[in-house]
Amino acid sequence: MKLNIAVLAGDGIGPEVTAQAIKALEAIAHSFNHTFLFKNALVGATAIDHCNDPLPEETLSLCKNTDAVLFGAIGDPKYDNNPNAPVRPEQGLLKLRKELGLFANIRPVKAYETLLDKSPLKYDIIEGTDISIYRELTGGIYFGEKKLNEAGTIASDLCQYSVEEIERIAHLAFKAAQNRRKKLTLVDKANVLESSRLWRKVVRNMASQYPDVALDYLFVDNAAMQMILNPKQFDVILTENMFGDIISDEASVIGGSIGLLASASVGKKYCMFEPIHGSFPQATGKGIANPIAAILSAAMLLEHFDLHQEATMIKLAVEKALELHLTTPDLNEESPLTTEKVGDFIADYIENPKDSNINFENIHVGQSTII
Ligand code: IPM
Ligand code: MG
Repeated sequence: MKLNIAVLAGDGIGPEVTAQAIKALEAIAHSFNHTFLFKNALVGATAIDHCNDPLPEETLSLCKNTDAVLFGAIGDPKYDNNPNAPVRPEQGLLKLRKELGLFANIRPVKAYETLLDKSPLKYDIIEGTDISIYRELTGGIYFGEKKLNEAGTIASDLCQYSVEEIERIAHLAFKAAQNRRKKLTLVDKANVLESSRLWRKVVRNMASQYPDVALDYLFVDNAAMQMILNPKQFDVILTENMFGDIISDEASVIGGSIGLLASASVGKKYCMFEPIHGSFPQATGKGIANPIAAILSAAMLLEHFDLHQEATMIKLAVEKALELHLTTPDLNEESPLTTEKVGDFIADYIENPKDSNINFENIHVGQSTII
């Protein structure tokens, strides 16, 4: 298969982790005889520095003319601490999601057997957790009308949803549940918010089209608690934009590191793959950022194009790296590998799954097994 991929590495650790995802994809292309062509473009704070625009026209048109977008990270502390900044890096990502119509953001959360002791949560609670979060991505409070009065003393953000916006992602979530453990949980705040009541009504009306899926509902505050108390109860979670943002960061604690969580954002026409973590500015350039979330996002890209065997190969390589503790300091304080070395091991394992087991020690002494 031939794929044109736009690479928007973005800010902070974005370029470092994205480089490892590309390495993994190149290894896949090589061993499965595909052609993946990568084209870089600017986004976020880096783009503001270059052309005062967090999503330059050139970047957007590249994304619209490629098969998929590989996204790194966005954000810079110089904007976080300045509420008066006229342009913000995040606007680039939000505009990109909107312009590409990426209404569904899929975030898988898994407790890896080899990492159960890394999570601050108890072994028994997280063991076997396997959740797929369907987060609505182009509506709600993120995109509703924003107001600030002239005196700068009163502000508001509108949370608005239409039936159509709810239905299109709910169909995807129901279908995902059908292919998994057949349970769908709608997370909302229907005891308080009108928009949540609409979500409930629409999703409940759709349930008869998916009779094999058990549908239940949870208020978001309770869901946040249940995520920690008993995450195994969840199969597919469906939720609006902001609740999904919050719940998915919380869920990352189950896996032991936010550096493991990948995501796919899909719409009718376009698709984008990004780790859920941020730009982690304190770690930039130090080689300590975990590239696994970015690499698993590349696996989601392959899955999107029905390259299932290839995606499985990436996941196997990641599992091997975790099993052998060939990981960055967030998961291995004693003898961590650098971002790049983790990427080297994973790419090497993809191409030589038979002997990476033997050669991995070379990485510890600073020699990549890639010749
Ligand atoms: C995410 C991020 C973004 C979001 C930020 C960077 C705008 O937190 O993808 O979860 O809130 O959607
Ligand atoms: Mg977030």
